[in-house]
Amino acid sequence: MREVKTFFVRTYGCQMNEYDSQILAGILSKTEKYEIIDQPDGADFILINTCSVRENAETTIYNRLNHLKQYKKTKSNLVVGIIGCMAERMRKDIFTKSELVKIVIGPDEYRSAPEILQNSMAGNSGIAVRLSRVETYEDIEPLRKEGISAWLAIMRGCNHFCSYCVVPYTRGRERSRSINSILKEIELLQDEGFKEVTLLGQNVNSYFDLQNKTNFPKLLRKVAETGSTMRIRYVTSHPLDMSDELIETMNEFDNICNYIHLPFQSGSNRILNLMNRGYTREHYLERIKKIKSSLNEFSLSTDIIAGFPTETEDDHKQTLDLMRQVRFDGAFMFKYSPREGTKAYKMNDDVAEEIKIHRLNEIIELQNIISKENNKNEIGKTYEVLVEKPSKKKAHEWMGRTKLNKVVIFDNSNDKYTTGDLVNVLIKRSNSATLFAEVVE
Ligand code: SAH
Ligand code: SF4
Ligand code: F3S
Repeated sequence: MREVKTFFVRTYGCQMNEYDSQILAGILSKTEKYEIIDQPDGADFILINTCSVRENAETTIYNRLNHLKQYKKTKSNLVVGIIGCMAERMRKDIFTKSELVKIVIGPDEYRSAPEILQNSMAGNSGIAVRLSRVETYEDIEPLRKEGISAWLAIMRGCNHFCSYCVVPYTRGRERSRSINSILKEIELLQDEGFKEVTLLGQNVNSYFDLQNKTNFPKLLRKVAETGSTMRIRYVTSHPLDMSDELIETMNEFDNICNYIHLPFQSGSNRILNLMNRGYTREHYLERIKKIKSSLNEFSLSTDIIAGFPTETEDDHKQTLDLMRQVRFDGAFMFKYSPREGTKAYKMNDDVAEEIKIHRLNEIIELQNIISKENNKNEIGKTYEVLVEKPSKKKAHEWMGRTKLNKVVIFDNSNDKYTTGDLVNVLIKRSNSATLFAEVVE
């Protein structure tokens, strides 16, 4: 009998990477030569799906690699693979970072994984890092973890080339999956009992199926119809493609969640221009105005970068000012990190580290205040919550999410409700991150 080898995948980075790990696991499992396990102990292969977006993302991976040496002690033929964005960026240089690494696979080469793993057992290093203009893995069934929420990548890559960003280099050109393959997968997810699906893409709203002339709003409509029992989410949107048609489509279906993640990055036009974002502060605010006037209920979140090259105190103030105007419910806030190979890397990284930190802290503090105030306004309202799991703190308390993606904690003594249930709750208390509620029958 042929021996089945085991692999463990650890994922860092964005949701796209989470999905890609499931694609890779799908490809490997299908061969019936490899079986996934959910902890690294005893695995024949440890595969690390990596992120390169900021320097500290890569530092985390190097630390992890050092840490992996312990598994080699109990498993002398352990093979470690680096896959994903850092594999693409560093290519064969990664082999020099750790003698454990025998496998390097970029995001568009997961189909070659079975062969590379096979060869590595004979002691050969293997590398596959070509980027593709067409690969969407649309015929691959991802190996999903059990649960109620599924990721579904509808497009890959990015053509925007924001001057600070490695993604166009690690993930290649933008390409979209066919609408038919997406709708088939939506049906499957619904049949399997998933309650929520998040459509993924670096710029999900620039989705375009060339053959069927389908843009993102049209796709969203079809997805909402086909997956009518599931909540439909999408992430991440680019402000340039946040069209009226898209905003209006969100109103047409109850199961489309009116939660919009719309990164603005900087409130200063001069910096936006240097970042090559392709829009102005005015355009961004105008899109927000459209969202606010079109949707009854909505929630907005964003990404912000502090300390981009040449950023002045005045530029920074404009970022804070934009935050005050929009009043986002949440934000991912970062300190600018120079990435080799990008356009901004050639600019002088001239904002001193302590100023970057100071500005980032101001941004974080302001966002905390706004999140707290926004959440306070939720007190007294009722929401439908999709029940996820027990909360970390107390066993009888469970957490779920509203359609607007707010985390709600509620009492679930006697285990009355379980994962996947929909319950109506009345918000009683809140802090900047969480709403606390009572179930209303
Ligand atoms: N495709 C998405 C997100 C890409 S990466 C978009 O365009 O919105 C996620 C976030 O990381 C970005 O929105 C940006 O805020 C941040 N980011 C990307 N490169 C960065 C860098 N070099 N330094 C700091 N933050 C960065
Ligand atoms: Fe990076 Fe810009 Fe593309 Fe987003 S849109 S992935 S920030 S290049
Ligand atoms: Fe990181 Fe790659 Fe995602 S660089 S943020 S894992 S696309």
